[in-house]
Amino acid sequence: MNKSIDEKTENIRTVIYEASEENIKLCARLLSSGELVAFPTETVYGLGANALNPQSVKRIYAAKGRPSDNPLIVHISSVEDVEKIAASVPEKARAVIENFMPGPVTVVLPKKPIVPNEVTGGLNTVAVRMPASKIALKLIAESGCPVCAPSANTSTRPSPTTAKHVYDDLNGKIPAILDGGECSVGVESTVIDFCSDKPRLLRAGGMELEKIEKLIGEIEVVKNSKVALCPGMKYKHYSPTAEVFVAIEGDEQAKRMLEKRTELQNSGVKTVIVCLDELTGAFDGCDVWSAGKTARDYAQRLFALLRRSDDEGYGAVVCQGLSDEGMGLSVNNRLSKACGGKFI
Ligand code: TXA
Ligand code: MG
Repeated sequence: MNKSIDEKTENIRTVIYEASEENIKLCARLLSSGELVAFPTETVYGLGANALNPQSVKRIYAAKGRPSDNPLIVHISSVEDVEKIAASVPEKARAVIENFMPGPVTVVLPKKPIVPNEVTGGLNTVAVRMPASKIALKLIAESGCPVCAPSANTSTRPSPTTAKHVYDDLNGKIPAILDGGECSVGVESTVIDFCSDKPRLLRAGGMELEKIEKLIGEIEVVKNSKVALCPGMKYKHYSPTAEVFVAIEGDEQAKRMLEKRTELQNSGVKTVIVCLDELTGAFDGCDVWSAGKTARDYAQRLFALLRRSDDEGYGAVVCQGLSDEGMGLSVNNRLSKACGGKFI
């Protein structure tokens, strides 16, 4: 019933399960038997597999169309489980684990041999995260195994923040999606590497860098690095079909956005503006979507708005860039990848 074959397409039938106790147990059984299950976390939906089963892990790459040298984060349901997959835990990593897990942060540590190469893309390190979502924690605990999970989107598409987003991308490719409603954080976890001399930021995300630095001191941020820091950074990301333009924060930002919007509309491209409420007043008569009041609101809504632009047939999205503080850094990172260099 759960993994039935659709005879016409020979695809797996994808079922969306409401996250009842019973369905969480059912999905946990699917995971432990080697199947893929998409599940909610506080950041984005993940596409989970038993991290200790190389055959299941390979299915993730196939379902997403993801390059297999891009390693996966291993999700655990209790901080004690870090020791099961990490060979050692430096002091600062331990502080982050004790203070911020569960939460939207991931630590990269030396791996134990038990973690298959399929998970780490052949690296000798492993990324570990304990999500805050109660549904995710129950699912992982019930499955009895660590669960590796990338975001549950097709590779290069915006990450999914609802079960419907997952369904739109992966229908026919996975047997189950556990529906936990909308994600509260909306961007992926902040990834910190503890395997070099100094802690290094590999990906800005759902936890503010400043908050982590307050606990462990300075974290190295390599900007504009030509070499991809973590394998995931070198790939195109988060792109809707619509062209995305980003107005860098600064002088006459609203004016630049309006000019770009006018130029696009005049050349026949249906265009929508995405900005914080502080700017909406500048765009009378335009199609405008609110990104909320704060950078945190913007992060929570961004991926859903990019997907909506495709659903509603827009050819272009003109987005407000933010200052690099707090969640602004994460929003700017996602915007910059989505726009592929089209800054205005
Ligand atoms: O919030 C999140 O982190 C979500 C949810 C589902 O937990 N997951 C997620 O996974 O964003 P994914 O696969 O889309 O992104 C994982 C990032 C990639 O950029 C990958 O290259 C990096 O983490 N990564 C994973 N393992 C690594 C390792 N051992 N060393 C360096 N980077 C690593
Ligand atoms: Mg991803």
